[in-house]
Amino acid sequence: MRLSRYFLPVLKETPADAQIASHRLMLRAGMIRQASAGIYSWLPLGYKVLRRLEQIVHEEQQRAGHIPMLMPTLQSADLWRESGRYDDYGEEMLRITDRHNRDMLYGPTNEELITDIFRSYVSSYKSLPLTLYHIQWKFRDEIRPRFGVMRGREFLMKDGYNFDLTKEDALHAYNRHLVSYLRTYERMGLQAIPMRADSGPIGGDDTHEFLVLAETGESEVFYDSAVTDIKLGSRDIDYDSVDQCKAVMEEFTALYARTDETHDEAAFNAISEDRRRVARGIEVGQIFYFGTKYSEPMGATVVNDKGEQVPVHMGSHGIGVSRLIGALIEANHDDNGIIWPEGVTPYHCGIVNLKQGDAEADAACDGLYKALTDAGLDPLYDDRDERAGAKFATMDLIGLPWRITVGPRGLKNGVVELTSRRTGESEELSPEIAVSRIKDIYKDI
Ligand SMILES: Nc1ncnc2c1ncn2[C@@H]1O[C@H](COP(=O)(O)OP(=O)(O)OP(=O)(O)O)[C@@H](O)[C@H]1O
Ligand SMILES: [Mg+2]
Repeated sequence: MRLSRYFLPVLKETPADAQIASHRLMLRAGMIRQASAGIYSWLPLGYKVLRRLEQIVHEEQQRAGHIPMLMPTLQSADLWRESGRYDDYGEEMLRITDRHNRDMLYGPTNEELITDIFRSYVSSYKSLPLTLYHIQWKFRDEIRPRFGVMRGREFLMKDGYNFDLTKEDALHAYNRHLVSYLRTYERMGLQAIPMRADSGPIGGDDTHEFLVLAETGESEVFYDSAVTDIKLGSRDIDYDSVDQCKAVMEEFTALYARTDETHDEAAFNAISEDRRRVARGIEVGQIFYFGTKYSEPMGATVVNDKGEQVPVHMGSHGIGVSRLIGALIEANHDDNGIIWPEGVTPYHCGIVNLKQGDAEADAACDGLYKALTDAGLDPLYDDRDERAGAKFATMDLIGLPWRITVGPRGLKNGVVELTSRRTGESEELSPEIAVSRIKDIYKDI
């Protein structure tokens, strides 16, 4: 992409009503624009990051054997009456009446709809296990939407639902989701710690939330500092292996880590004092096992191998895709702007031409642009007729992790400059070597 042809409406002033860094930076970097309270348009740069996160979520879900589909945003109230949640859900549910006076709602989650689909088609244990998921917009009429996409009213969520014959099988699905979520967040360059939590309106006994530690987080968290040393890394997990998934689950949840809802002062105080941490976190996902809470009232049963009709055991699993962008920025920024981890950056590398219109500099930039795109990378070339300072400020604000700076002086010596956004360190290299360095950085991403 050439910046002169792009739509990147960056703001010079800091928006006054944005209280936290990620919200300010998303507005300033031209990623989002508020349409109404808690509802945003995703401008091209923000949309590109959102798409990238969706892609990672899809890849990791499918690696775990989960099947993508798409359910609608508008749902019939009738299904929610069957589960009893139409009345229970409260004011967060946006209720709509259509022209025929039918009660509809904008889905805050999809347990009912997916259970209805399941019961309509599946009748035998032989079709199990089954996990279906989608990435779809949700609406929750939050009383206090704030912090931009972090607590929106309309937000993008990946929600998945497992159907299993027994509790034991469903607990394997739970553990498998935990592993795949850890992998998803790590690929995004984020540490999200699974913490024992409260199940809220979804219901059920077993649930963990995934929290990204951040001062601006809305949840209060209590944990043993040693949990932050545990990483999944590049280990190869067989998602069908009950033992392997369980081992990861146990490893990540053995140490004390809880949100305030389930915090237990006595258990916390049993940790040695130097490892006790009280902090804040952003909830970026949650997994639930809730057994037959929906399958029983809604009649989602299968015939087991003894010929008996039994309700299926279920769980649901959510990732806050749009909220993750806020969490990523909270964890990765400085005074000048965003610093995207390589795994989620909207463009792999920026190219800054210090002297637009200079034949040699223009040709060198065009050459770099072509070499990078030929390598399957996505560069953003600032080809505007602007001062160098303004170009650097834009690149720093939008946070591309790598920048190649091209100017007539360097070109005389056959070099361009490669700069890391994170460290600020620069190196002078030939254009060819700069390209191969960028290729190398992204080869496993
Ligand atoms: N209002 C919101 N805006 C953006 N993302 C949200 C919002 N509510 C929930 N999410 C995201 O969707 C994920 C799954 O939804 P879940 O039902 O667990 O939310 P929740 O526990 O009600 O969230 P919260 O406690 O933050 O209100 C959450 O972990 C979170 O990342
Ligand atoms: Mg939750």
